[in-house]
Amino acid sequence: MSADSRADLAVVGGGIVGLACAWRAARTGLRVEVVERGEPGRGATHAAAGILAPDTEAEPGAATLAALGRRSLELWPAFAEDLERESGREVGFARCGTLVVALDRDELDVVRREHDVLARMGLEAQLLSGSECRKLEPGLAPVCAGGLLAAHEAQVDPRRVVAALVDALVAAGGVLRTDAEAVGLVREGDGVRGVVLADGSRVAAERVLLAGGAWSGRNGLAPVPLPVRPVKGQVVRLRAPADELPAERMIRSEHVYVVPRASGEVVVGATTEERGFDTAVTAGGVLELLREAYRALPEIAELELVEVTAGLRPGSPDNGPLLGETGVDGLLVASGHYRNGILLTPVTAEAIEALVAGTPPPEAVEPFSPRRFA
Ligand code: GLY
Repeated sequence: MSADSRADLAVVGGGIVGLACAWRAARTGLRVEVVERGEPGRGATHAAAGILAPDTEAEPGAATLAALGRRSLELWPAFAEDLERESGREVGFARCGTLVVALDRDELDVVRREHDVLARMGLEAQLLSGSECRKLEPGLAPVCAGGLLAAHEAQVDPRRVVAALVDALVAAGGVLRTDAEAVGLVREGDGVRGVVLADGSRVAAERVLLAGGAWSGRNGLAPVPLPVRPVKGQVVRLRAPADELPAERMIRSEHVYVVPRASGEVVVGATTEERGFDTAVTAGGVLELLREAYRALPEIAELELVEVTAGLRPGSPDNGPLLGETGVDGLLVASGHYRNGILLTPVTAEAIEALVAGTPPPEAVEPFSPRRFA
């Protein structure tokens, strides 16, 4: 059994969201302890491509979520800069832009409709002809019939962000306990005052933040409804020589996205599957991803296949995150980020930092109270 400890804030979950919230809180001088049931960043963060695309990933009708994503994209450059300075590690933030491409007439109709929807939501993206797309990205297949350019969108490398967050958290005085599974909450009256771990030890804390991704609603920790479910995404990683990337921008078609990084890594994602906690990678999943990526960028057939992985996105009933106070004294949540965990990390950390400090969280976060599901 490990020793009991005491903190101002105990964070359950050492993925990108939990670590970012912990780091930001530790920087304000609070004693922060993260408990992670395995290794940090090995859940959804490990599979994630790191797309920071609030506009081209926006779903029709999801204007409040797009606004939250835009706010978070605005925060990303300073968040990355602070993190790199405090950790001494690079995180791969790059304002590379997204090009949504149509590979036949039907897909062109979809892209045009997407442009109209985005324009109605006040979001920026520019319609391009097929030849304009190919001028920007010569590696695109000649069948490219048109596209939508969102030049302001960006990417980051989630695995590097996690490594940097771990170092920055420790540099700020925070504690990270790995292989430490939270199995219960310390209750005091109607409130929550800490976490009980599987080995019987406790982290006593003024506040507990549940940031366990897809597992947030599963382990029965929360005394309030947290309707978070796993949504599987299979992802393929390829490697190109760094000066021979198949594209400069993130390329998205109706069925796939391709994220080229300056390091030569090329991430192809992702399936969307409701299969509970299953994380098997399947021949069908990989076939679909590579076939669709090849349709858009035929050169990817030449690249080295490095890794296939599957992660579990934390889905919520309305696809929006659950951020903030649960209504139980001392218990906060940051989960349910679904497809937007990496994008929404800075705004989530900002909101939790504000709540812990007793100051108002950003306005864009208000619609995402976990209490909307009570
Ligand atoms: N945001 C990309 C994905 O969830 O697949």
